[in-house]
Amino acid sequence: MPSYAIIGGSRGLGLEFVRQLALDGDNIVLVTVRNKQRSPHLDDTVNQLPHNNVHILEADVVDHQAIKAAATEAGNITGSSLDVLIYNAARLEYDNLLRGLLDYDSEDQLDEEFMQSLKVNVLGSIHTVNAFLPLLRRGTAKKIIIVGTEGGERDFVRRARLSDMAAYGITKAAEHMVATKYAVALENEGFTVVSVSPGFVDVSDTKSELMSETNASKMNEIARRTFAAFPTQALLTTQVAVQRILADIRNIGPAESGAFRPSPELA
Ligand SMILES: NC(=O)c1ccc[n+]([C@@H]2O[C@H](COP(=O)([O-])OP(=O)(O)OC[C@H]3O[C@@H](n4cnc5c(N)ncnc54)[C@H](OP(=O)(O)O)[C@@H]3O)[C@@H](O)[C@H]2O)c1
Repeated sequence: MPSYAIIGGSRGLGLEFVRQLALDGDNIVLVTVRNKQRSPHLDDTVNQLPHNNVHILEADVVDHQAIKAAATEAGNITGSSLDVLIYNAARLEYDNLLRGLLDYDSEDQLDEEFMQSLKVNVLGSIHTVNAFLPLLRRGTAKKIIIVGTEGGERDFVRRARLSDMAAYGITKAAEHMVATKYAVALENEGFTVVSVSPGFVDVSDTKSELMSETNASKMNEIARRTFAAFPTQALLTTQVAVQRILADIRNIGPAESGAFRPSPELA
């Protein structure tokens, strides 16, 4: 039975990965959340699924021991193997997400915000891959997917005049490099490791915080600039974005390993 682990699947795109993968009763779907008691969207989704193939594990990605414990639990469920790991978790609180390098109240605040983003977006992905690697080595697909973003790619940032989203974009750029480093390190073992952009996706229906008016107008301004630079950009549903990534995951192999895969409308 093909097995998938979604890291950070309580809501948004992660939740949709769980839903779509679980519709195939042959799949074993492992999903990690920070807090099982506070993942109502995941509970609702799982309750409506036709099969009992979703296993919810608890781990905050900034806690590498918790991630390791989740990997051990995953191995107990799958029989010590895993086919596909999808690292989806990211720090996306609006205040932090939208700030540019010149928008911090103090250098201390800048340090703090960057460290938090680094822990979730970069170190979290590394600890996760390290923890799940023994299982992936015993799997048949050997695929590691980092959910990335054009916001972490230089050309896009320049063309869209995206000075905002500094901690997010800089750490996501580093996260893309994490994928490339693992791609090279694991190339002789037949692994495929890529970072993949979902595109510009509306996840508002499962967001855990409300957007203030100030942040809403910042977000609109960012959207205006990116649409001006990339008129082909479109606001996607999670269903479409995840469907596309899952099709991509099925099709890619070692030849694609190490690359950043942009969303088609931004390529
Ligand atoms: N939406 C877009 O337009 C877009 C565009 C490009 C790339 N992406 C990428 O797509 C991925 C998902 O984004 P999204 O839009 O679906 O975001 P979202 O709705 O805000 O979901 C973020 C997910 O990350 C989890 N998470 C955050 N911090 C965590 C931590 N410390 N430990 C474990 N899990 C943690 C959250 O769990 P909690 O519920 O516990 O907070 C939540 O499940 C991200 O990697 C993002 O960079 C999104």
